[in-house]
Amino acid sequence: MSICQDESAVQCAYDEVADTYADHFRATEPELPIELAMIEHFSSLLPDPRRVLDAGCGAGRMMPLLDALGCRVDGMDLSPGMVRRAQADHGQFHSQVGSLTALPFPDHAFDGVFSWYSTIHNPDDDLARILREAHRVLRPGGALLLAFQCGEGISDVSEGYRRRGHDITLHRYNRTAEQMSVRLTHTGFDETARLVRRAAAHERSDQAVLIATSTTNDISRHGRIDPSVLSAPASRR
Ligand SMILES: C[S@@+](CC[C@H](N)C(=O)[O-])C[C@H]1O[C@@H](n2cnc3c(N)ncnc32)[C@H](O)[C@@H]1O
Repeated sequence: MSICQDESAVQCAYDEVADTYADHFRATEPELPIELAMIEHFSSLLPDPRRVLDAGCGAGRMMPLLDALGCRVDGMDLSPGMVRRAQADHGQFHSQVGSLTALPFPDHAFDGVFSWYSTIHNPDDDLARILREAHRVLRPGGALLLAFQCGEGISDVSEGYRRRGHDITLHRYNRTAEQMSVRLTHTGFDETARLVRRAAAHERSDQAVLIATSTTNDISRHGRIDPSVLSAPASRR
């Protein structure tokens, strides 16, 4: 299946479902202890003052957790509807509209960039730009965390929202941890921690959390990525 979903389609979809999403996912109830441990580890790696961008914050449910871990967190999301809910439900944190592909922040503004299932709707062509932008806004030595469903191909994730009365079309781009790791290395990150776990009973996919530190500002050092590496089968760990 070849689908090129642009950001305006993703924004419209999340604007439509924002209240349903925010009411359903209020805090970190869906996260497993091992995922919370990865987030705690991410926070522990950050140099002070631990300024963290929740990049694709949605309705803001992860911001109180980051705050409790000692981070000074700002939220940003593509969808004005989601940001409206983040501001209403978590108004103690600053959140604004913006895209992962063109972060509205200066270079080296953050010690950490936290992307919790927010790169999943961008096709591969956008991903290189997203990682470059994360690298740009991180201070040297800062860390990036990426959480995503593992796998190959594209999934239609509209059905769950349609059942709740939302007439939307939304796709997810699945990637393996290995593919993401290659892209991170190419962009000037060193992967420092990886969680890959099997799908829980209520999930359809395995899940991954990768943490990588920013190592260099010379993000063109690795040349072109060998495409065969990016289509390698998922590693089973
Ligand atoms: C599955 S939700 C996760 C939201 C939040 N991180 C959470 O865990 O509740 C995906 C979020 O990513 C946002 N998003 C998708 N593509 C984006 C992009 N290119 N730039 C910024 N946000 C994006 C969506 O608007 C949506 O709020």
